[in-house]
Amino acid sequence: MKKVDVVLGLQWGDEGKGKVVDVLTPGYKVIARFQGGPNAGHSLRFDGQTFVLHTVPSGIFRDGSVNIIGNGVVIDPVILSEEIDKIESLGIDVRSRLLISKRAHLILPTHRMLDAASEAAKGKTKIGSTLKGIGPAYMDKTGRNGLRVGDILSPEFAERYERLKEKHIGLLRQYDYEYDITEYERRWFEGIENIRRFELIDSEQAVNRYLADDVSVLAEGAQGSMLDIDFGTYPFVTSSNTLCAGVCTGLGVAPTRIGNVYGIFKAYCTRVGSGPFPTELFDSVGECLRQIGHEFGATTGRPRRCGWLDLVALKYAVMMNGVTELIMMKSDVLNDFDTIKVAVGYEVDGRRVDYFPFESNEEVMPVYREFPGWKCDICNVRSYDEFPKEFRDYVAFIEQETGVPVKIISVGPDRDETVVR
Ligand code: GDP
Ligand code: IMO
Ligand code: MG
Repeated sequence: MKKVDVVLGLQWGDEGKGKVVDVLTPGYKVIARFQGGPNAGHSLRFDGQTFVLHTVPSGIFRDGSVNIIGNGVVIDPVILSEEIDKIESLGIDVRSRLLISKRAHLILPTHRMLDAASEAAKGKTKIGSTLKGIGPAYMDKTGRNGLRVGDILSPEFAERYERLKEKHIGLLRQYDYEYDITEYERRWFEGIENIRRFELIDSEQAVNRYLADDVSVLAEGAQGSMLDIDFGTYPFVTSSNTLCAGVCTGLGVAPTRIGNVYGIFKAYCTRVGSGPFPTELFDSVGECLRQIGHEFGATTGRPRRCGWLDLVALKYAVMMNGVTELIMMKSDVLNDFDTIKVAVGYEVDGRRVDYFPFESNEEVMPVYREFPGWKCDICNVRSYDEFPKEFRDYVAFIEQETGVPVKIISVGPDRDETVVR
């Protein structure tokens, strides 16, 4: 009996999960998304082309792969449908590679409006959500009002849709928010028809059957640990459990069936949207990271906030996820820096703290350790021994602090720009 291996972002999202899943897929038959929805933007780059996926698992481009959208995911039929059409236009038979859980919840057009209205009402304290309707959809899930993919097979689907929509319209009235969903709603029902072409499954049965049959399964996380609804920087988080625990509830696998946990982090740190970010840089160094790393959102195009690697947050994420192997991304972005800093602790009200505090606001001052930069291009490095000593010292320090080996190092966006130790 096989176990599910897991790929997770350990920071605030956009660590490079799409690339890593794409690199790892030759070793897996099944790739499954277990939480989140079109708030995710996972980039893959091969054969000189870049693809961005939002709902579809990042295994879709590999021949013979099975890609599952699990029960923990929330689906916007418009976005999923556009994604499917785009992949099909590349000549890929998506229908034979993509399975969708009947238990996954649907994002309604009015969920998107509620997301926007809620953010507008918050003003300065807004979350900076992706405005994809994620929060409202998960609220209806836990509030037991949601519509699920399997419901589209029911003759009462249209009626149930109208009932939920009416409820949302009532809520939107309270917000005094102006909107028009006519066009989006038309596309939404077209999207539903597109989804009907696909095999809608009990994904928990399918995943457990694959495991029992010794078929390898890789779970693909979305967002990052610091955006987890329970353990992230609440309320500036997303609405799902992004941690490894989410694999159990989002796919229906037992905790004892979790295998390797690949924790992904950038060699520095980014965040998009509002909320605490202790190592954020507001100076030219931060701007350099943004420009060199092309740190602009894959889903919303927003500039990402940039800063140094935060080992306090990273160690927290490693602990909460039970990470067994680390994967360091975007190492090449630091090529030209004279000095590289890493936060090894915080100072809060004059006290030294080495864990992630309940509230981490401006009063949290990072305590840095400095490393000399390697000052050379590492994009063409393909084996670990070829890395300069300064680079290897940086990696060794991260391994020593986290207690977890760094097994893969990414030195560029392409599939091939990867060093496996
Ligand atoms: P995800 O949401 O975790 O899948 O990450 P995103 O796709 O949103 O953001 C990661 C970005 O970094 C994408 O534009 C990738 O193409 C790019 N990327 C991934 N790995 C590397 C790397 O090692 N070096 C560089 N320079 N870019 C990378
Ligand atoms: P991937 O999978 C980075 C952030 C938003 C916002 C907060 C809540 O590509 O790493 P939401 O729309 O979920 O209600 O927004 O979470 N956020 C992400 N940031 N990468 C993502 O996904 C994100 N998904 C949501 O910017 O701060
Ligand atoms: Mg992303």
